[in-house]
Formats: sequence, C-alpha cells, structure tokens
Amino acid sequence: MDNKVDSTAMDRRTFIDFLGKGSVAIAFLPPFLNACAPESKDKSLHPAKTIKTLELEGILPTASDELELISGLTSRVLISWGDAISSVDTFGFNNDFVQFVPLHENKDEALLWVNHEYVNPMFVSGFYGDMEKTQEHVNQERYAVGGSILHIKKDQDGNWHFQPESSLNKRVTGTTEIPFNWHTEIKGSSIAIGTLANCSGGYTPWGTVLSCEENYDGAYGETIYVDGEATHSPSYYGWENFYAEPPEHYGWVVEIDPLTGRAQKHIALGRCAHECAYVQQLPDERVVVYTGDDAAGEHLYKFISSQPNSLKEGVLYVAQLETGTWIPIDYENQPVLQEHFENQTEVLIRLREAAKLLGGTPLNRPEDIEVDPVTGNVLVALTNNASKADFMGQILKVVEANNQHDSLSFTSETYLAGGLETNFACPDNMAFDNAGNLWITSDISGSAMNDGVYAPFKNNGLFLVPRNGEHAGKPIQIASAPFDAELTGPCFSPDGKTLFLSVQHPGDQSTSPDDLSSHWPEGGNSVPKPSVVCITGPSLEAITSGNLA
Ligand code: FEO
Ligand code: CA
Ligand code: CA
Repeated sequence: MDNKVDSTAMDRRTFIDFLGKGSVAIAFLPPFLNACAPESKDKSLHPAKTIKTLELEGILPTASDELELISGLTSRVLISWGDAISSVDTFGFNNDFVQFVPLHENKDEALLWVNHEYVNPMFVSGFYGDMEKTQEHVNQERYAVGGSILHIKKDQDGNWHFQPESSLNKRVTGTTEIPFNWHTEIKGSSIAIGTLANCSGGYTPWGTVLSCEENYDGAYGETIYVDGEATHSPSYYGWENFYAEPPEHYGWVVEIDPLTGRAQKHIALGRCAHECAYVQQLPDERVVVYTGDDAAGEHLYKFISSQPNSLKEGVLYVAQLETGTWIPIDYENQPVLQEHFENQTEVLIRLREAAKLLGGTPLNRPEDIEVDPVTGNVLVALTNNASKADFMGQILKVVEANNQHDSLSFTSETYLAGGLETNFACPDNMAFDNAGNLWITSDISGSAMNDGVYAPFKNNGLFLVPRNGEHAGKPIQIASAPFDAELTGPCFSPDGKTLFLSVQHPGDQSTSPDDLSSHWPEGGNSVPKPSVVCITGPSLEAITSGNLA
C-alpha cells in the first residue's frame, strides 16, 4: 500500500505533528532506550528478589534446523513471511530490525516495526536458475522489501500476539512514495519510489522509527565515477531493467511514523550502506546519530544536530581513530571537498568518496551500534574483513571525550574480539536489556558457515555478555539459528519478559525449490519462512532482571 505525502510539509516539526494526529499517542522514552524499550538502566544494581537466581549455562555451537535455546527459554512464531496483515497486505520477506513502539492507552498493546531487508527471488518471485527475469518477478520482489507495522497485544499469560484485523497494521514497500527531507531535489525528484535493503535501524526520542538502507546497490545498481565520468554499475536483482529509478534515491536513513506509515528519507545523514542509526539525545534536545557503513574499508559516522530533535539541521562527521577525532564533512569549510564536488548535496550523495578525501579511518565493516546505558560508551560491531585477514570481527568501544556525545574527540579500543576464546564470530546486531547485559547476534555468511575457520561456530547464534555475576564480560551462547539463517533485530519488551527476534534467511543456500536446505519453522517438506519469534521463559526474566549467579 503506497503512502502519498506532501513532501513540502515533511520538515521535523510537521513530522512530529503527525504523532498528534493519530488516535493513540506514542510514549516518549528516555534517550538511552533506543535499542528497544527497557524500563530502567540500573536494575543490575537492584536485582528483582522474586526471581530465582539463574546459574547461566550456554548451549554449545549447533548445526540443526531448529531455533535452539538454553534451558528455561521457549520460542513461538509471532508472524512469518506471507502472513496477511490486512485485506490487501502481507508480511514481507527477510525480517531484520525490530522496534517495539509502546502505545500510551494500554501497556498491553504496542506496535512492532519490522524491517524487510532483501529477497531471495527463488522464494519471493519464483525467479531462479537461468530463467529470464520479468516485470512480474520484479513487482513481487519490490513488494517484499521495506518494512511492516504490526499491532500486537499481550494476553493475560504475558504472551504477545499479532492482531491481524487491526487497522494499525501497515506496509511500507519498495514502491511506497517517500519524500526526501532536504532543501533541493535529489537526482531530479523530491520523492523516491520505495525503500529497500532495510537492514537495522534506530528509534527517535519522539517515537518514530529509523530504517537503514544498506546494500541498496543490489536493486537499481550504483553510479560510479571513472575519471570524473559517471557510469552505471548494474544491480544484482536487475530491477533497473524495468523501473529506471536513480541509485541516488537509495542508501539513506529512512524515518517512519509507525502510527501513519508515513516516511521520509534524511539526506543530512549521508548516503552509504547504512547498517543502523543510533539516536542519542543531548540535554538540550539536540541529537547525535551514530551510523556505520557496512562494507569493507568503510567508515563510522555521527551526525550532530544544531537544532532540537532535527535530522536535517546539523553536521555529519567521520571518525578518524588514529587521532581520535570526528572530522566534519562540511563543504563550506573543507577545501578538498570543494575541489571534488559541486555542493554539500553532492558530498552527501557521494559520502564514501568524501570520507576518504577527509581521512576517515577505514574499518572492517561497521554493523550495529549501541550506547552502553550504564557507561555511555559507544559500541560498534565490526563484523569481519577477509581482505584484511580479520575473519572473526570485534566490537569496538568508542569513549567520547568527557563522555559527551557531541564531543569532537574520543578514544577507542577493542571491547570484545570474536574468536574461539569468546565463543562468537562476526558480530552484527546488538542490544542492551534492562539489567545492562549486552546481547550480540552473529552473522557468518551463508556460504562460509560450518566451513573452514568458521566450522567450530556451526550455525549463527545469539550471545549474552552478562553485566554481573561470575560470567560477567564473557559471551555465552543463548540461541542457535536454523540452517543458513541469521538471528537479527533483538528487541525486548519494556518489562524484559519477551525477546522479539528475527530469524532471517533460513534456507538461503537452497539451490532450487526441490532442494531446500531448511524447512524452518513449519518442518516437513515446507518452504523455509523468515519469521519473527517471541522468546520467553524464566531464564529470560532472570537475565533481564539481573538475577545471575
Ligand atoms: Fe544487513 Fe550489515 O547487515
Ligand atoms: Ca545486520
Ligand atoms: Ca550482517
């Protein structure tokens, strides 16, 4: 379902006003509660006394076609690809980032935003092998990306359920018209057709969701510059053969009002393979947005707004780790940018080139970013970089000067290195729970899983780094994904009793419909379905309330 919006009206203030026009209002959360919606950041100091202390025991690496969990946890599928969410819409493919959005009237109701990152055409459109791609294939593929807005309710047993009849359920897709929040057109238009490659994201203090367009070049290709001449690099999916959308319309951070489904693309945050966008509000209500560019040798960025709660007015910076400085990507004050680009808009569109000209530090694929709710440190998952012989990845810790997020200097060091000693490889998504424990998902690519240096880790997993107790600081495996899958978008309910988790791309290595590598979640000979699950149980309650031995 397409959403048509008046692009001239999409400034920050107007966008906030959308919230007031809904029949329900969204809770405004403290700024550190961006991963999801925990209730308190310091419960680790005051463990709940009614919950039995847990002797933590992880699972071993596992290669099965199940979602395996530690004892004391169970999972239930909330929704799967293809499920109807209204009379006209269905849940999209390859669910990733999940954001819990409270609804004020009733704490037992909420909206869940879910990203749909990419399609496996064999499942989504039936295109595979040496078939000739048709417009109908592309139409089905464009529909299956973007995101879903789901109305969920908690029953008396504390289990959350999707409400398929609710008018609050909506889709944003690869065909939704989305305006740019900028003062000029982008490649001749004030709107983009659709959002895609929606990987991870973020949550704003004003109750909207940020969804990040990561590997956008797979859809319509990319404009590359050879000796100053722009040429088109073709896409993986070949959508541009049917729809001539400019590549420059993708690779942005997209903001969605979960009540209306209205969206806008933020140019000021730059254009790259954005993994995520973590918003930290400052005491004066200006915001700092941390975002990484997930490609080998690319960069870490932060935007500092000059106006309260603005994602338009402000300066974007790139991190230089060697000197511990944030370098402004500012056309007016950087002569080297003036030599290579026409204006700030072109700088932001060709962000990677600008960052390199300014001396940004190349990194090993920046993935998710979280601010530690206890220390204020910025954690950045650097997943791996085979070209640098970094196969296991690490989590980088950035400490801002004076612990202020608008500082222009910082120190950095490895917080956790992947590898056999720490049980995990290739960190991707992260989340903090109410007790300040860190949760990490791994993303060993499907073609490398259970092979070579990655063989000991078996399938991808979910890991806990306890804040307290005898295992404090040591990753423990909590879950193992079905074959070929990746666990993404960990998100806790405010009471910490439910973990919403995406199970993305099960069976992604299947070579044909007759040779499926996974049948999760329905089993038998069924087609694998990306799904969001709810994980509950006494072990989760013990962990998220800080009751760890
Ligand atoms: Fe879509 Fe960088 O993970
Ligand atoms: Ca990711
Ligand atoms: Ca990833």
